[in-house]
Amino acid sequence: MSKKVIILGGIGKGEQIMDCILDNRNTFGDKEYEVAGFLNDYSKEDISGYKVLGKLEDVSRFVDEGYYFSFGIHPIGKNYAIKELFEKVNIPEKKLATIVSKRAFISPTTIIEPGVVILPFAYISLNARIGRCSLIMAQSIIGHNSMLGPCCFIAAGSILGSNVKLGYAASICLGATVLESCHLGDFSILGAGSMLLKNIPSGEVFVGNPAKYLKNISR
Ligand SMILES: CC(C)(COP(=O)(O)OP(=O)(O)OC[C@H]1O[C@@H](n2cnc3c(N)ncnc32)[C@H](O)[C@@H]1OP(=O)(O)O)[C@@H](O)C(=O)NCCC(=O)NCCS
Repeated sequence: MSKKVIILGGIGKGEQIMDCILDNRNTFGDKEYEVAGFLNDYSKEDISGYKVLGKLEDVSRFVDEGYYFSFGIHPIGKNYAIKELFEKVNIPEKKLATIVSKRAFISPTTIIEPGVVILPFAYISLNARIGRCSLIMAQSIIGHNSMLGPCCFIAAGSILGSNVKLGYAASICLGATVLESCHLGDFSILGAGSMLLKNIPSGEVFVGNPAKYLKNISR
């Protein structure tokens, strides 16, 4: 029997997680998960035909009812808030749905922590580690031996070289590139289309080619 997944979030990233579950089921016959609906604090409207079953505070009630959860909340620029929210909803580890598109390539040596989502055409190389509830979007590449902390967001088309390290809730924006061995601190952001050649300290935003300091992330 399929595990019923409630997606935390909504339009955009949450819907893409939904699509990935549907694609795995309908195209590849992988019935491990089925979409039960969404939890969303801002809307009660159906999302892509699925019900909003409640708010984030309702997680514990649904845990008791046997549901699984996917954390789809990764607003770029609110990186500190992502951690606070993630800790507040407090999903038990065994109730985190780990969703990997059948269209992605994941090296067998990759460690994928609970709650990770990997969307179609991502490529994850040898000995990488993807931290809990990180979201890896379509067509992104993660080089060998790279390590991502919890709740990271890797936007579509971005490229991480080998031995890259990301802290807690760091974001790589659309089509950005990180050279090998660079470190991005907790809650840091690399802007869209940027090329990172050095480390980003925690809580800072870097943009451009070569990427340079733009600002601190507001708390
Ligand atoms: C990093 C980011 C959040 C910065 O946005 P911001 O704080 O609103 O920055 P602003 O638009 O106010 O720009 C401030 C300055 O930085 C520059 N800048 C902003 N983003 C830049 C980027 N990605 N590359 C180069 N320069 C950039 C602007 O041109 C501007 O320069 P100026 O002061 O000389 O005019 C934004 O660039 C970004 O990448 N957004 C995320 C897009 C994305 O990946 N979405 C994923 C959806 S799934």
